[in-house]
Amino acid sequence: MNLSLYQRVSELHGTLPWGSLLDAGTGPASMRWLLSLATRRWTAVTGSPRMRDVVRKEIGDRIRREDRLIVGNWLEPELLANEVFDVVLADYLLGAVDGFSPYWQDQLFARLRPHVGQRLYVIGLEPYVPLAPADPDGRLVNEIGRLRDACLLLSGDRPYREYPLHWVLRHLALAKFRVIDAQKIPIRYGERFVQTQLHMCDQALRRLNDRTLAVAFESHVAALRDRAMAFISREGGIRHGHDYIVVAEPVS
Ligand SMILES: C[S@@+](CC[C@H](N)C(=O)[O-])C[C@H]1O[C@@H](n2cnc3c(N)ncnc32)[C@H](O)[C@@H]1O
Repeated sequence: MNLSLYQRVSELHGTLPWGSLLDAGTGPASMRWLLSLATRRWTAVTGSPRMRDVVRKEIGDRIRREDRLIVGNWLEPELLANEVFDVVLADYLLGAVDGFSPYWQDQLFARLRPHVGQRLYVIGLEPYVPLAPADPDGRLVNEIGRLRDACLLLSGDRPYREYPLHWVLRHLALAKFRVIDAQKIPIRYGERFVQTQLHMCDQALRRLNDRTLAVAFESHVAALRDRAMAFISREGGIRHGHDYIVVAEPVS
């Protein structure tokens, strides 16, 4: 059975109540899942006003009086000070931290620790951009990741910086969490991955001042898109890398 990462978290949660839930790095996907759960109340945090607007659209009229969508930065000590939630979700938050609080990833779990009443669920992605895989699937995913990050850097943005599972396990222990379970889930990338990642290239290249360089990059992006789409229709996807889910509880 091909379960989504969120379905896996629901399975890991079992019959425990969801109670109050904090989505510590919200987005439309985690919000869609959160809204399907029997929570008593939820709070969702993003560092970006643009993401707040996207998530607000996802919520529509499904927000209750006790639910909150907040723009804030985990760097700010007063953000949700003294508030404790039964469940805290850090869904692709770690990889995005570099864009909001660079070089602060080692502090993230300690910052979230006082907010975790019962359980912390961390969802993350094993880094793949700095690697040099030899198999065709790996080479293709790697090429897409490297091109995306190159375009973002050239246009003045900060790419995500993912961290491996072993780093997460070490830092959860340092932040006084006990790991209950950790799973690595193999990824099969489809058309949506190719389109979204290369769309980020197209958008970044529009902002490049050197138009000769931008045009050269644009044709490279288009050629890679064609190659990746052909690969997916031939092979049924690009099988490479892993997501991970970690279940942790605070040590008192
Ligand atoms: C990749 S996105 C969200 C993924 C999301 N859970 C989804 O639905 O796919 C990462 C989120 O973490 C937030 N974030 C990253 N660093 C942050 C920080 N230092 N403080 C607050 N939010 C942060 C971003 O603003 C964004 O909302």
